[in-house]
Amino acid sequence: MSLMQGSILRASELVDNVLDFARGRLGGGMTLSRDASAPLGPVFEQVVAEIVSVNPDHDIETHFEVQEPVDCDGVRLGQLLSNLLGNAVTHGAKDQPIAVRVTAVDGELTISVANGGQPIDEAARRKLFQPFFREEIRPNQSGLGLGLHIASEIAKAHGGNLEVTSDENVTRFAFTMPLETAEP
Ligand SMILES: Nc1ncnc2c1ncn2[C@@H]1O[C@H](COP(=O)(O)OP(=O)(O)O)[C@@H](O)[C@H]1O
Ligand SMILES: [Mg+2]
Repeated sequence: MSLMQGSILRASELVDNVLDFARGRLGGGMTLSRDASAPLGPVFEQVVAEIVSVNPDHDIETHFEVQEPVDCDGVRLGQLLSNLLGNAVTHGAKDQPIAVRVTAVDGELTISVANGGQPIDEAARRKLFQPFFREEIRPNQSGLGLGLHIASEIAKAHGGNLEVTSDENVTRFAFTMPLETAEP
């Protein structure tokens, strides 16, 4: 993977997030195309492979355990994972492993990403999911602070939840959604 491809990947993620934010503000909200029969594994493997190829020196461990069909929008959940994993690589400690877990067991889908590094303090944790929030603004920083906002919108559209925990050992973002939605 060349430097150029890495830049293209980041730029296209940025554009996706900005367009989704604009669409949300124009009304309409986030629409999903759910498909319970589409296999989820390959979607997540692709997202991880892309980020691994741009960050070959970062130790990224994955655990996939999707045994039950998931009625969801795989493209959107792939975008959610991409935003979380991109953040772990960008904002976490470079010399500590990142753990990605996707499980669909016991009636619940969980997508979690954990990294080391400076903890996110409580005041910041409360604002993290608001559009354009960034903890610190660095020169040449490409992110706009939309990734977590979009990820939380994707979570909400699925009737799920996106939560963060952070201390000196680990910062973990976890999306959960029930696999069985109540029949109307
Ligand atoms: N895994 C993480 N570890 C530490 N800080 C994080 C992590 N993910 C997000 N953050 C903080 O939350 C802010 C918002 O994240 P995000 O919405 O994805 O925006 P961006 O990545 O464009 O800055 C980041 O700027 C960073 O300060
Ligand atoms: Mg981000």
